[in-house]
Amino acid sequence: MRILITGAAGFVGFHLSKSMLNKENEVVGIDNLNDYYETNLKTTRLDILKKMDGFTFHKIDLKDKANVDAIFEKYKPEYVVNLAAQAGVRYSIEKPYVYVDSNLVGFMNILEACRHFPVKHLLYASSSSVYGGNKEVPFSTNHNVDHPVSLYAATKKSNELMAHVYSHLYGIPTTGLRFFTVYGPYGRPDMAYFSFTKNILNGKPIKVFNHGKMERDFTYIDDIVEGVEKLIPMAPQASSNWSEKEDDLSTSFAPYKIYNIGNNNPIPLMRFINALETALGKEAEKIYMDMQPGDVMRTYADVSDLERDIKFRPSTSIEVGIKKFVDWYKEYYQV
Ligand SMILES: NC(=O)c1ccc[n+]([C@@H]2O[C@H](COP(=O)([O-])OP(=O)(O)OC[C@H]3O[C@@H](n4cnc5c(N)ncnc54)[C@H](O)[C@@H]3O)[C@@H](O)[C@H]2O)c1
Repeated sequence: MRILITGAAGFVGFHLSKSMLNKENEVVGIDNLNDYYETNLKTTRLDILKKMDGFTFHKIDLKDKANVDAIFEKYKPEYVVNLAAQAGVRYSIEKPYVYVDSNLVGFMNILEACRHFPVKHLLYASSSSVYGGNKEVPFSTNHNVDHPVSLYAATKKSNELMAHVYSHLYGIPTTGLRFFTVYGPYGRPDMAYFSFTKNILNGKPIKVFNHGKMERDFTYIDDIVEGVEKLIPMAPQASSNWSEKEDDLSTSFAPYKIYNIGNNNPIPLMRFINALETALGKEAEKIYMDMQPGDVMRTYADVSDLERDIKFRPSTSIEVGIKKFVDWYKEYYQV
């Protein structure tokens, strides 16, 4: 398989690239290596990939159309997994235009490139945040997601809409992947599990939002990678008898599909902190705070489509996954 992975120096992109290379695929990685979080972590991930057979890297920003086109023209990828994006809910309140550049203009350039240099399947990261203010759980891809509560979520929902148009107009098979709070080794320093670990080890307090009354469907990175890999060859087909009345918003008359990839097991924030304290052997000093703007109370993935289509569901428990993360953290930062 010749596969283009955008955001290859990022957390998910690194793990997916590594796993695909281990299975003797050819991976072309692109990333702009921006400094949203420590760039050392991105270059460390890249250094690992660059030592592997079959990996090529280009430092490119998705918003530069000519550069994106040149990559498609040169490599003619069969499969594309678009993971490059400005991630983070809270940052989208501080820096909204960065989300427009990377997540909207950047994704548009990927769609146009797939139109002019046809691919067998385009997969792209969406997010559990598209469920916004929805209350019914577990979150199903059959639920309406028209009520986002952050610009980040709105850009991810927009990606799904843009992909649908390109699937319809140009027959590009597209699959949107709604990831649920991904964590693990080489993870993202801006996410709570990472900054909590740092603070607990340094004897600094951690901020517990909404007084701990929150739940997240934490999903271990290896489960995400396995799910994505199984979906890559599964290009969706147009459903000829599709009807919006039949309660299947995740498929279409176009070759288009949306999946949740989450653990299907929401963890209360306090249990998650407890798992971290156990793995670190140290109790956290906690500062209880109100809910943050843009945050949601709970995420919880319905993964029945994954089970039906690829016979897979994430299964790593928070205790096992957090222990693996903490072991990696201590070794990487020499704690
Ligand atoms: N990690 C999670 O919990 C989670 C949850 C839901 C959705 N997602 C989505 O999954 C994808 C991967 O997330 P991640 O956790 O690996 O994030 P990440 O920030 O570690 O990786 C994204 C990578 O994309 C690169 N990038 C950003 N904008 C770019 C641009 N304009 N051009 C080129 N490269 C650019 C960044 O430098 C980074 O290396 C993202 O689309 C994210 O929104 C992640």
